[in-house]
Amino acid sequence: MKIISHPLRLKETLRDAQGSVGFVPTMGALHEGHLELIKNARKENDIVVVSIFVNPTQFLEGEDLDKYPRRDEADKKICELAGVDILFFPTAQDIYSEDEVKLQAPNVRGYILEGFTRPGHFSGVLTVVMKLLNIVSPTRAYFGKKDAQQLHLIMLMVKQYFMSVEIVPIDTVRDSDGLAQSSRNVYLSAEQRAEALKIPTSLYHGAKLISQGVTDVERIRKEILEILSGLEVGYVAILSREFEPIDTVQIGNSIILVEAIVGETRLLDNIWL
Ligand code: PAF
Repeated sequence: MKIISHPLRLKETLRDAQGSVGFVPTMGALHEGHLELIKNARKENDIVVVSIFVNPTQFLEGEDLDKYPRRDEADKKICELAGVDILFFPTAQDIYSEDEVKLQAPNVRGYILEGFTRPGHFSGVLTVVMKLLNIVSPTRAYFGKKDAQQLHLIMLMVKQYFMSVEIVPIDTVRDSDGLAQSSRNVYLSAEQRAEALKIPTSLYHGAKLISQGVTDVERIRKEILEILSGLEVGYVAILSREFEPIDTVQIGNSIILVEAIVGETRLLDNIWL
């Protein structure tokens, strides 16, 4: 496995490469969810590139940028064992300059839900993803469905900017207790983790109601909120897969999204219907 930190050096290396390139952008602290992305990239491409970059522009003032989990050596080993060909490990100076051209998240879909509690977060995500995609020029790039709004906005950017990359959404990986894998789960104590399980439980309950024929969004939201009681709920939203408001759930085109804060840890989860 090659480890490359400079964008131009990575571009040069990939210019001579033969075959399809699968790309998995990450912020490190790799877990099963990332491994699933890498596994899919490995299966579907000749060359696999993973990036590890804790992107400062997607963290707001006072957020956990400084304490975001960093496990560089373990992550390198994981990538090597997973059959990654190139690990891109840039510094902030390699990626950003002093006076930057700015990419802005869309006014509505970039500033609801996650974007409402974290205004500007998605501008940072889209900026770094645009830069990474331009550096790697992959055939396919892999993103988890757990970060559904991020995935949606990246797909929108790729479409609206006529970019030649296939975005491949990958299902959320859950621990055996049902909690969605996230790099931030390490912050949870055993008691907090037990509380956090209300999140997948509430989503499964929503899906069960729908399987029983309930489609009224307000009723489903209300029952989900009841299960989440005791947690600090950021939002419970039931939207179309285009992230537009709906009154009734349409199977095949709806998504339930939950954000809740457990202790000091913000957890996201969702279920695609
Ligand atoms: O999902 C993440 O880990 C990050 O938001 C991403 C896509 C790597 C951009 O920094």
